[in-house]
Amino acid sequence: MYTVHLKTSTPYDILIGPGLIAQSGNLIGKVFSPCKAAVITDSNVHPLYAPTVMHSLSNAGFQPVEYVFPAGEQSKTLSTLSDILEFLAEHQLTRSDIVVALGGGVTGDMAGFAAAVYARGISFVQIPTTLLAAVDSSVGGKTAVDLKAGKNLAGAFHQPSLVLTDTDVIKALSDQLLSEGAGEVIKYGVLRDPELFSLMCEKDWKEHLAEIILRCVEIKKDVVSCDEYDNGIRKLLNLGHTFGHAIEKCSDFTVPHGFGVAIGMAIASGAAGKKDVCNRIIQANTNCGLPSSFDCEPSILAAAALTDKKRSGETIDLIFPEKIGSCYIKKTPVDQLPFLFETGLNTIKEILA
Ligand code: GLY
Repeated sequence: MYTVHLKTSTPYDILIGPGLIAQSGNLIGKVFSPCKAAVITDSNVHPLYAPTVMHSLSNAGFQPVEYVFPAGEQSKTLSTLSDILEFLAEHQLTRSDIVVALGGGVTGDMAGFAAAVYARGISFVQIPTTLLAAVDSSVGGKTAVDLKAGKNLAGAFHQPSLVLTDTDVIKALSDQLLSEGAGEVIKYGVLRDPELFSLMCEKDWKEHLAEIILRCVEIKKDVVSCDEYDNGIRKLLNLGHTFGHAIEKCSDFTVPHGFGVAIGMAIASGAAGKKDVCNRIIQANTNCGLPSSFDCEPSILAAAALTDKKRSGETIDLIFPEKIGSCYIKKTPVDQLPFLFETGLNTIKEILA
């Protein structure tokens, strides 16, 4: 088992290894005394892992209760959040009790936000069950729900007290879910790690999942420990996200987040005039079963990007690759967005022709 220690305002461990779901009660018991534990999960993950987690928590002396919501981004709303908060209140959770987020990015973001606001903040544990959540969203304390205007527009910074990543769970994922997570892994390669990037261009990348998760979490730890509240270098972790979120939104969320990030990175490199980097990102995307293009008018995509959180007045912080392993943040006037989408998508078209 690997342990990564993240020093934020409230420091915590990220444990990565096999069999952690079955040991979750004892592992959580090393951080919390027995208390009520509200396990929040979705309808896909519930039958697979909730019974094991509930049993393990009971055996370790916790009083677990479970809340299940319909799987999918369409559940990541204020309405589901409200239901979760009412559930916590009905079960009389207090500030000495905990929330356990068992699932992918939607579950972790929404259960984390519930923990951030319930009783003005209670502790929570992340148990990510997707590659995307394991390498990115379970670490660093960003919690949120979507608003009609855009993704993650209502949220809070609230660090988990423990992250348990069971590599057996990640290894059992479908090809589609592994591809979705690969979008974020390639992001970490483009940002900081040419070796990780090269691994994502190899046919056997899925045989190295534990090492891939460890490497991404180590990079995220380095970034988040310098800039917990996203005022500086943490913005780099948004590589591909502004372009990608616009694509997700314009597809009515039929394009999943990891796919949006993959296409978004290709657009960012094309828009920056880095055709060689764009070409390599497309190669990595293709190798990992990810798309690199999206058919939509640049002006429509640009309009969808205007509600992005990285916008401040008439500018937006965009992330562009310099080369594989190095990126930079550029404050960009929002009226350049249509041109950037167009240039990026045209570069991708030329490469794919
Ligand atoms: N997912 C980007 C971040 O945590 O900052």
